[in-house]
Amino acid sequence: MSQSFDVVVIGAGPGGYIAAIRAAQLGLSTACIEGNPYDDPKGEPRLGGTCLNVGCIPSKALLASSHHYEDATQHLGEHGITVKGASLDVAKLVARKNGIVDKMTGGIQYLFKKNKVTLLKGYGAFVGQTDGLTQVKITDKDGKEEVVSAKNVIIATGSKARHLPMVAVDNKIVCDNEGALNFDAVPKKLGVIGAGVIGLELGSVWRRLGAEVTILEAMPAFLGAADGAIAKEAKKLFEKQGLKFDLGVSIGDVKVDKKGVKVAYTNAKGEAQTLDCDKLIVSVGRVPNTDGLNLEAIGVKTNERGFIEVNHDCQTAVAGVWAIGDVIPGPMLAHKAEDEGVAVAERIVGQKPHIDYNCIPWVIYTSPEIAWVGQTEEVIKVSGRAYKTGQFPFMANGRALGMASADGFVKVIADATTDEILGVHIIGAGASDLIAEAVVAMEFKASSEDIARICHPHPSLSEVMREAALAVDKRALNM
Ligand code: FAD
Ligand code: NAI
Repeated sequence: MSQSFDVVVIGAGPGGYIAAIRAAQLGLSTACIEGNPYDDPKGEPRLGGTCLNVGCIPSKALLASSHHYEDATQHLGEHGITVKGASLDVAKLVARKNGIVDKMTGGIQYLFKKNKVTLLKGYGAFVGQTDGLTQVKITDKDGKEEVVSAKNVIIATGSKARHLPMVAVDNKIVCDNEGALNFDAVPKKLGVIGAGVIGLELGSVWRRLGAEVTILEAMPAFLGAADGAIAKEAKKLFEKQGLKFDLGVSIGDVKVDKKGVKVAYTNAKGEAQTLDCDKLIVSVGRVPNTDGLNLEAIGVKTNERGFIEVNHDCQTAVAGVWAIGDVIPGPMLAHKAEDEGVAVAERIVGQKPHIDYNCIPWVIYTSPEIAWVGQTEEVIKVSGRAYKTGQFPFMANGRALGMASADGFVKVIADATTDEILGVHIIGAGASDLIAEAVVAMEFKASSEDIARICHPHPSLSEVMREAALAVDKRALNM
């Protein structure tokens, strides 16, 4: 007899594995299907999805290592510390990153055992529905098949890198995120197509390690999704660090030969250009992954961009079938996928969780970091809502000066009448942690005065948040 579960989750990324753990915590018999071995030497499926294997975690490990290298070679002098003979072992740096990934993915195996989640190794595909149960076929790496049934199926199959038709990715010379995390040496010249989150983070990693990095971007505006003031400051600081940008380009032929890569493109003025580089990263967004799911078997629909269609509760139009994370519309972020995983598990047992999508924070882990939550000034302006802003620089903060990390500022936007916080935008050291205060404030519908009145530790970077909130009412104390 085939195995039957209350919940079967397809995909063990941050959306899927968290959904499985939460469902099991709630007393539901739960299985999670995962087939991707990523770089596993034995070809066994690895848990954690894009995030742990080829996304958030490895990129942040490389960002940390490259930050230390740049400090040692360029920035420690101002502290009176001289480092002689600093050298770089790329193989060791990448091995450290791999060690962290191994530890994290292994940790999920442990969590599955602890929470009694059954791991079904292989790729899942829908077979059909009978008597209120959905059947899913799992095919393992040796081609062995098993069909399980479930009262509820959660599709959490994530996303994959979008490629361009004229650019063949081999993940050796021309790389998407997977190859770009595993270079065996620092390229002398690195080209990047796409000045989005991956282009900026991985471009920064290899620049800090010594590559000359040029980023080609199709849009005429830099970081269009960010608040305009933040984007302007970011571009200025990144260019000062040595990143080169060409905006408003149109990519033409990309040729690879023994000497490297030649990217033909047209710049914003319509002039033909060529970028010669040793390696090229293609980071032009990600696409939802529904490969091989056989959605037709149960009638689940995708929209014109390939995302699975769901309602506000992550339900598809088919009873008992849910979808979460990168495979559905919305920001492609690990914490968004996780929150949806928790919410769906809770909805299955009849609870009424709520996700406020306006309060999902964004972070770009460059140096300085960029983080925001809520609306940008540009969006609020267009909406016609009356607002006021307060801005405060890290330069006027003692802790930031002590850390030699005084670039950037915090900007708070609040409703002109009620003072409710509408958006908080940070470029500066520690922005990834500082933004959490703004998220809590917005979740509780706080006013800028609430943050301004709360005691913040001194000396700390969080005082910049408070001063920016005070500045909304034109009463910053240290400026
Ligand atoms: P995924 O993590 O993509 O997981 C889906 C899983 O489903 C995969 O393991 C896949 O193998 C599996 N799967 C697919 N089809 C099947 C099938 N048929 N059967 C069984 N299994 C299947 N987000 C952040 O919030 N912060 C960051 O710092 C960050 N950094 C990133 C850096 C990079 C380089 C990249 C590429 C992404 C980054 N992201 C970051 C985005 C983040 O990784 C994704 O938003 C997140 O992983 C989405 O989670 P998910 O569970 O929806 O899908
Ligand atoms: P992205 O959407 O952030 O940026 C892609 C960029 O490529 C855009 O600026 C776009 O205009 C540009 N582009 C698209 N087509 C182009 C073309 N033909 N020529 C030149 N430029 C072109 O996508 P990215 O960087 O690939 O990352 C994918 C997603 O992964 C992100 O949107 C984000 O959701 C997630 N991610 C999150 C991170 C974080 O939270 N810190 C880090 C890395 C990725």
